[in-house]
Amino acid sequence: MRRSRYNTMMKEKKKKPWAGRFSEPTDALVEAFTASIHFDKRLYRYDIEGSIAHARMLARQKIISRNEEKNIVAGLKAILADIEKGRFIFNARDEDIHMAIEKALVDRIGETGGKLHTGRSRNDQVALDIRLYLRDEIRIIGEMIAGLKSKLVDLAKSEIDTILPGYTHMQRAQPVLLSHYLLAYREMLERDEQRLRECHERVNVMPLGAAALAGTSLPIDRACTARLLGFKKMSENSMDAVSDRDFVAEFIFVSSLIMMHLSRFCEDLVIWSTDEFQFVEISDAYTTGSSIMPQKKNPDVAELIRGKTGRVYGNLVALLTVMKGLPMTYNRDMQEDKEPLFDSVDTVKSCLHVFCEMIKHTKFNRARMLKAASGGFSTATDVAEHLVMKGIPFREAHGVVGRLVAYCIEKGEDMQSLTLEEFRLFHRGFGDDVYTCLQVENALNSRSIPGGTGKDAVLKRIKSIRGKRK
Ligand code: ARG
Repeated sequence: MRRSRYNTMMKEKKKKPWAGRFSEPTDALVEAFTASIHFDKRLYRYDIEGSIAHARMLARQKIISRNEEKNIVAGLKAILADIEKGRFIFNARDEDIHMAIEKALVDRIGETGGKLHTGRSRNDQVALDIRLYLRDEIRIIGEMIAGLKSKLVDLAKSEIDTILPGYTHMQRAQPVLLSHYLLAYREMLERDEQRLRECHERVNVMPLGAAALAGTSLPIDRACTARLLGFKKMSENSMDAVSDRDFVAEFIFVSSLIMMHLSRFCEDLVIWSTDEFQFVEISDAYTTGSSIMPQKKNPDVAELIRGKTGRVYGNLVALLTVMKGLPMTYNRDMQEDKEPLFDSVDTVKSCLHVFCEMIKHTKFNRARMLKAASGGFSTATDVAEHLVMKGIPFREAHGVVGRLVAYCIEKGEDMQSLTLEEFRLFHRGFGDDVYTCLQVENALNSRSIPGGTGKDAVLKRIKSIRGKRK
């Protein structure tokens, strides 16, 4: 080959696929600044999957030949194998994963590779890739939540006799079953799962065909591409299809709630593992020590889950802010959707995983919990309800028991040690059955209304959950 022809060829190879109207090469600084390949490369599998479906559709529509389809698909599969074996070099000069793969395809199969992008733009392509990616991740996260939920139900069953002081305002309020507490988190996770399913509905929409923003004049078959990729729906408006990131924001919001739920649970575990509480002991394997204080055993895992919640919230705000001022339709700002999204996915997954393991390594101190649940006049409400059952208006009963509590505090005694005469000094309605409702177990089990913390109600709930699971 003559030297000058070789030089022109090499120059052409270095050019961007979009370089036709440019007379100057991109500045290296701009190249580095605009590139997203260092993070969007993780979409490679979905990019290739989408391209294969697109090529197959193009061939069915006779826009490309069967032979070209075969070459393109084989080329894409070979690129996939290369990436998976770590043999693919990602280069900032290729800007993003979409161009990197297209360029690799042309390098591999020649100019037929240039036919892949027919009737398509990176704008609808990137929307497709994110949707395919999120579809998978939502499924995985949903499975992790289901796993945690059933772990909580198993725990609720094995801790069915563990009594815990329930708190409001962080002040001891009323005794509850630890199982009831655990199942409360299961309810939250159940809603998280529902939200994920609903989010999945909106993610599961096929945007290809929107092209840059206005669709294409080529006779493509969108329904065919949708079918090949397992989408039930197609986007209904090409402009919306390329400018929409609602589904990303929605996913990060759902993730934020999942994190919030884990974080609150962790907060309790942090408090419960203090010397002051000693309600739980997280095993050595799931705690860490202090570099200066030899006696310390810190609940760092729980603290970090609580801390990482902040970054997911931050990701949500980042994305909403990126989107808020964007004119229709696609704007390059939208490339900033990926890092918050990926970080949210990674954070939620790792937190769910480690939380589930930490719970398995946590022991509940039944005696300590019971002791705390018995103190602090935790059955005062039950005493008031005892009076209510004798026909006394609740407001009056509340006042009577309030005065009784003050009397006990003054005497330095708890209510159990008062005589019936003393009770009757406060209200003549007191009968000797007041001692029954003062007992923590009795107070607790009397709350067996549906949704209540009584053992019967909790067992019923466990049964109905397990029944549904089968
Ligand atoms: N890397 C881009 C992104 O993540 C892909 C779409 C680019 N489209 C464009 N017309 N420059 O948003």
